[in-house]
Amino acid sequence: MAKARKSAANGNGKTPAKKAVGKPVIYVLNGPNLNMLGLRQPEIYGRATLADVEKLCARAGDRLGLTIDFRQSNLEGELVTWIQQARTKAAGIVLNAGAYTHTSVALLDALNAAEKPCVEVHLSNIHRRENFRHHSYISLAAVGMIAGFGPKGYVLALEALADIV
Ligand code: DQA
Repeated sequence: MAKARKSAANGNGKTPAKKAVGKPVIYVLNGPNLNMLGLRQPEIYGRATLADVEKLCARAGDRLGLTIDFRQSNLEGELVTWIQQARTKAAGIVLNAGAYTHTSVALLDALNAAEKPCVEVHLSNIHRRENFRHHSYISLAAVGMIAGFGPKGYVLALEALADIV
C-alpha cells in the first residue's frame, strides 16, 4: 500500500495526507434531501440535480488533479461511517451535511476523529435564512465554509482543498 506523504502543518491543526502514487482522494459527501435537488424548492436550491453537481465535481477534480468520491445519504449514521473512512481513505472532505449541519454533534465528532481537512458547503446562503440555519456544528471542524453560490460552491471548495492536501 502506498505510504501517506507527510506534509507541512497547514495552520488548521489537521494532517492532510497525499498518496505518494496517484491523485489525492477527496470525499464529497452530501446529506439528507440533497438527492432531491432539481425538484426540491428550486427557488432556493436551483434547478441543477445532484447528478449535475457530481459532474461539476468530476470535471473540477480532473482539472485540479484530485480523485473525487461523490456520495449522498439520507442517514446520519451512514455519513458518520463515511467520515470515519475518510481518516484512512481520503486526503480531504467536502461536506454538505444538509439539515444535519444544524443538529448533528455526531457528524462534528466524526470530523474531529477523521483529522482530515474539511470544507463545508451549502448551496444556499444559510445566514440569509431562518435563524435555526445560522448555527453549524460542521463549522467547528471545518477549515472554511462556502455558502450561497449554488453548485459552484462545490467547485470552490475543491479548489480550496487542492491547495491544502
Ligand atoms: C443546505 C442548507 C441546509 O440548511 C438545508 O437543511 C439543506 C441544504 C444547502 O445546501 O443550502 O438541506 O445545506
